[in-house]
Amino acid sequence: MNFNVLTIFPEMFVPFWEHGIVKKAIDRNLISVSTINIRDFAKGKHRVTDDRPYGGGSGMVVKPEPLANAIRAAKKTSPSLRTILLTPQGCSFSQKKARELAAEKGLILVCGRYEGVDERICHDFVDDEISIGDYVLTGGELASMIIIDAVVRLIPGALGNADSADNDSFSDSLLAHAQYTRPRTFEGEEVPEVLLSGNHQQIEEWRFEESLIRTFLKRQDLLKERLLSEREIEILKKWCRDIEKIIHAQSVFGSDTLSGNK
Ligand code: ADE
Repeated sequence: MNFNVLTIFPEMFVPFWEHGIVKKAIDRNLISVSTINIRDFAKGKHRVTDDRPYGGGSGMVVKPEPLANAIRAAKKTSPSLRTILLTPQGCSFSQKKARELAAEKGLILVCGRYEGVDERICHDFVDDEISIGDYVLTGGELASMIIIDAVVRLIPGALGNADSADNDSFSDSLLAHAQYTRPRTFEGEEVPEVLLSGNHQQIEEWRFEESLIRTFLKRQDLLKERLLSEREIEILKKWCRDIEKIIHAQSVFGSDTLSGNK
């Protein structure tokens, strides 16, 4: 897969290409990466890439000509690549979107700056607008890196363990289960016994339940938009029954007799 980033700060990407999974993916020829400096396509002695907004107002707007020419240059080498503008006005980036993008041959990522880019670029030169969240960054560079990072780890062979990405949070609209590593006891807290049992079926069941309940506790919104399987409904019902038993015990014995909690 080929990533071509259009930015006025190409140097920001140099350390990004040189670390972690992204570097490994480059070394293994799973991805190729390049940057195009939008400023190289700006005219005049000062190669200005921004200008004041028509109609007045604060801030500056990315000029259309250098950006259009930079996109044309990127498309020249790879005409069929999907062109994405990073902007807080785009559709929200998600794991689903990452999976969709990972199926592409490559991406041209256009990093906006200032108050935004000239609207005619959005109309005529980009296929998609993506936001990484409801907040405003000073530019699309960090957003591009986030998208590249999330997409690269989905490319087969990019992660050490072939099925690591299958167990990710959101891979099945659920959060990932809790993870533990050595030592067995850390500052008085033990690793759950089942994980030491060597019983793979029990471990799988524990992880499944843990993932479901974790999602319920932390991100109910994910469960609400998901079709639950019978197994999941059974687990949630069991939890309901356990909670009801605790509440019932309170009403039968009175809270004072149980644990002395006030
Ligand atoms: N550029 C500025 N803010 C952004 C955001 N939230 N997502 C993507 N690109 C941006």
